Amino acid sequence: MSETLENLLHETRQFPPPAALAATANVTAAAYEEASADRLAFWERQARRLDWAKEWNQVLDWSNPPFAKWFVGGQLNVAYNCLDRHVAAGRGDKVAIYWEGEPGDTRTITYADLHRMTCQAANALTALGVTAGDRVAIYLPMIPEAVVAMLACARIGATHSVVFGGFSVEALTNRIQDADAKVVITADGGYRRGKAIALKATVDQAVSRCPSVEHVLVVRRTGEEVTWTDKDLWWHETVEQASDQHEAQPFDAEHPLFILYTSGTTAKPKGILHTTGGYLTQVSYTTWAVFDLKPETDVYWCTADIGWVTGHSYIVYGPLSNGATQVMYEGTPDTPHKGRLWELVDKYRVSILYTAPTLIRTLMKWGDDIPAQYDLSSLRLLGSVGEPINPEAWMWYRKHIGHDRCPVVDTWWQTETGAIMISPLPGVTVAKPGSAMAPLPGISADVVDDQGNPVPNGGGGYLVLREPWPSMLRTVWGDDQRYIDTYWSRFPGMYFPGDGAKKDEDGHIWLLGRVDDVMLVSGHNISTTEVESALVSHPAVAEAAVVGATDPTTGQAIVAFTIPRSHVDTSGTAGEALIAELREHVAKTLGPIAKPRQIMLVPELPKTRSGKIMRRLLRDVAENRELGDVTTLQDSTVMDLIAKGMRARKSDED
Ligand code: WT7
Repeated sequence: MSETLENLLHETRQFPPPAALAATANVTAAAYEEASADRLAFWERQARRLDWAKEWNQVLDWSNPPFAKWFVGGQLNVAYNCLDRHVAAGRGDKVAIYWEGEPGDTRTITYADLHRMTCQAANALTALGVTAGDRVAIYLPMIPEAVVAMLACARIGATHSVVFGGFSVEALTNRIQDADAKVVITADGGYRRGKAIALKATVDQAVSRCPSVEHVLVVRRTGEEVTWTDKDLWWHETVEQASDQHEAQPFDAEHPLFILYTSGTTAKPKGILHTTGGYLTQVSYTTWAVFDLKPETDVYWCTADIGWVTGHSYIVYGPLSNGATQVMYEGTPDTPHKGRLWELVDKYRVSILYTAPTLIRTLMKWGDDIPAQYDLSSLRLLGSVGEPINPEAWMWYRKHIGHDRCPVVDTWWQTETGAIMISPLPGVTVAKPGSAMAPLPGISADVVDDQGNPVPNGGGGYLVLREPWPSMLRTVWGDDQRYIDTYWSRFPGMYFPGDGAKKDEDGHIWLLGRVDDVMLVSGHNISTTEVESALVSHPAVAEAAVVGATDPTTGQAIVAFTIPRSHVDTSGTAGEALIAELREHVAKTLGPIAKPRQIMLVPELPKTRSGKIMRRLLRDVAENRELGDVTTLQDSTVMDLIAKGMRARKSDED
């Protein structure tokens, strides 16, 4: 059997759980056995973490695949599970959110506060005519009102559609129209990189093209002037004046909870639909299991934006359903200085930090001396999500942030899966840098070849999920056929997430990036991730993006865009020497087949708003221009070209 994807990178370092963590871990190895003995009984037990108004009569209805129903007949209220039950249990004074504005203003919000705010918003939305099943678009900066708006929708059974605050008029318009949103919740603006960024003007333009919108609720954050239309209402004049008494009604386990549009590289964005009971069960369980969350003592911080699924599942629903205390930060990690994250970790004594490889590699580029100026002793666990984490970035995170004391959990999942699917368990797994390791208890993942047959250990291919899971998407909003075609048609009976992966000699899973990005070099399928990781394993490199460019002899050739670490000399002949050394380094690490045809040293890489490298754009650059052997930092024309391409790409993304 031929391998679908080459397995080139061999990583042998291993890190067992710290003994003290393992001794008190929320989850032990027994969970894997329990789940494999009876998967549905396992998920049924996890569902009991929540308060249900009415018990289900069937755990899973899979009679009409791929349309799943979990906890059939059960009823619950998501906001009740995130707020009321903690207050009722006497934990109302516990801090839910330590919020830090970018300019340095702060708010401390207890569970009782968040409960009152959410009740007020629920009453205000109801007064505006929003009822169960209506859609509400949320276009807000990272302020507590974003959490309140989501919980208020959940509380009254309205379906929220959060649109990332950085998206354009076009993107916002499309999303409002696709979901037929009745209300938009926004703000005058928010702070980013030391500046007030306006949001309301974008909403005005979008709403003028969206007849479904009846009202726009506006939070005052920056105090900048805004134009006012007859649909607009200030949050402080409506929500904050509303009664803070509201009784949450239970909803069906399959009641829609939210729509979230995937950033989608092609065509029309897909509205991923998540529902109530299964979603909350799996996000709640995974927050507790993967982060070993101890709500009484931990301070948790997820640096994602609420506009991405990570913010939905691991800022709002996972931590709050567990009664956790968390930090929420409005701004960017370099404002007003590059130590801001570590300053906040020390200030709030953060114990669990969940962030993305793109940020970790940026921190590497900024230099080891920055985190070295902070204590960081409160940290006990580190998480990563969003892209494959290169082994060297994993090692850097573990050493310079975790001080070799904290386990690192690399968590694989997607907007569509709703919750973490493949990840180490911090008290159980002997982790390998760069590997997401194994499916969580109750999840069945595999790696298959072109024909859908499992690849042997050591082989590469396509990641698939074999069984439905509680927090799975239920469909693409308004387009069941697209749901079937996109996810369930490539391999009959299996869910295909679109990612390449390999199994190592022990059967552990390594994610290899999107299969669309795989390069075909002289008949070998090579993943961009492995070549990037080889480059990042060189001490001079902080970050790398690799693409396959059309080549007359090899079909595709490997072209690498590489960001050097801050201390590296890249001028003139030093730059040329470094490039030669890096090409050799890759050939030595992965074999001559993976040696890049070209390497360019660049100061930045084009990324999507969620931090993923825009390889398609780099491919255009690599193919449309005679780049020559050496392009160094000094040669800015490549980056100009990238910038031009980015502008073009940005408008076609909209
Ligand atoms: C895609 C999903 C999951 C929340 C944030 C992104 C990639 C995500 C990992 C990981 C390797 C990863 C995959 C996936 N991805 N986490 N730990 N290792 N790749 O959500 O925007 O829906 O993106 O991100 O390619 O399919 P998303």
